[in-house]
Amino acid sequence: MEEIGFLGLGIMGKAMSMNLLRHGFKLTVWNRTLSRCDELVEHGATIGESPAAVIKKCKYTIAMLSDPAAALSVVFDKDGVLEQIGAGKGYIDMSTVDAETSSKISEAIALKGGSFLEAPVSGSKKPAEDGQLVILAAGERALYDAIIPAFDIMGKKSFFLGQVGNGARMKLVVNMIMGSMMNAFSEGLVLADKSGLDPQTLLDVLDLGAIANPMFKMKGPSMTKSSYPPAFPLKHQQKDMRLALALGDENAVPMPVAAAANEAFKKARSMGLGDLDFSAVHETVASSKGST
Ligand SMILES: NC(=O)c1ccc[n+]([C@@H]2O[C@H](COP(=O)([O-])OP(=O)(O)OC[C@H]3O[C@@H](n4cnc5c(N)ncnc54)[C@H](OP(=O)(O)O)[C@@H]3O)[C@@H](O)[C@H]2O)c1
Repeated sequence: MEEIGFLGLGIMGKAMSMNLLRHGFKLTVWNRTLSRCDELVEHGATIGESPAAVIKKCKYTIAMLSDPAAALSVVFDKDGVLEQIGAGKGYIDMSTVDAETSSKISEAIALKGGSFLEAPVSGSKKPAEDGQLVILAAGERALYDAIIPAFDIMGKKSFFLGQVGNGARMKLVVNMIMGSMMNAFSEGLVLADKSGLDPQTLLDVLDLGAIANPMFKMKGPSMTKSSYPPAFPLKHQQKDMRLALALGDENAVPMPVAAAANEAFKKARSMGLGDLDFSAVHETVASSKGST
């Protein structure tokens, strides 16, 4: 493929772009904090000095940014994507945002004659490193077809979900379920511990039954040790709960379980845990386990 642009080298962007480089793609990268480009440059990437400079150089540019504010800023602000996007160029935003943010970006890019695809992903740091993400794309079909060679490296499966907004909505539904599960799991671990059971035995029992899943298996052992190295930062999970609850509001879907989970993630943020892994929500229950 031609040279690809990559904007945003956080936990996910770095892992995804390294994976593309390893598979022979040529990349021009940009990150707000420029020093985060260094490791990519050591592996053969070129630095673009702004999002606009990357768009100017590359036919296709991928973004992986933290939240709606970041996604909008990189497109609409000075030296942003809009300054250089135009006919024959494609912009693929893989950040997790709401459908409204995605639509705003899509419309602005269309007005300039460019193409847009939203493509949020399911899967965390390790699947990103291993090219095992699940890609939830929506927008321009021709751009989806053109960027598939890169998606095939980054992901184990790509879905094309139709019009812009459907990728964002699918991703929010998935993370709403995940956030609620993580809270139930945290309460279970603390309940087992406090009622005199060995949490490790609980993990073994869960893993053999109908509710076994990779997330419990992967996060459980570190949670029992109160260790939360960030793979998926808690502040982003809370953002996803907030956006999913807004989607619930829009569609009049009652979501009391998700609303309670959101409160727990907010509590965790207020405890200063936002930059840790989202499994640190466990601390909102565990840190009160000594009280009666
Ligand atoms: N981590 C996961 O497991 C996971 C899984 C699936 C989806 N996601 C989603 O993927 C996206 C990225 O997640 P991540 O874990 O990689 O997050 P992260 O490590 O916090 O990285 C966020 C990236 O966004 C950039 N950024 C933040 N605000 C910005 C702004 N105003 N202008 C320009 N750039 C800005 C950061 O730049 P700086 O380096 O300058 O701060 C960084 O490159 C999020 O939407 C997240 O919800 C994450």
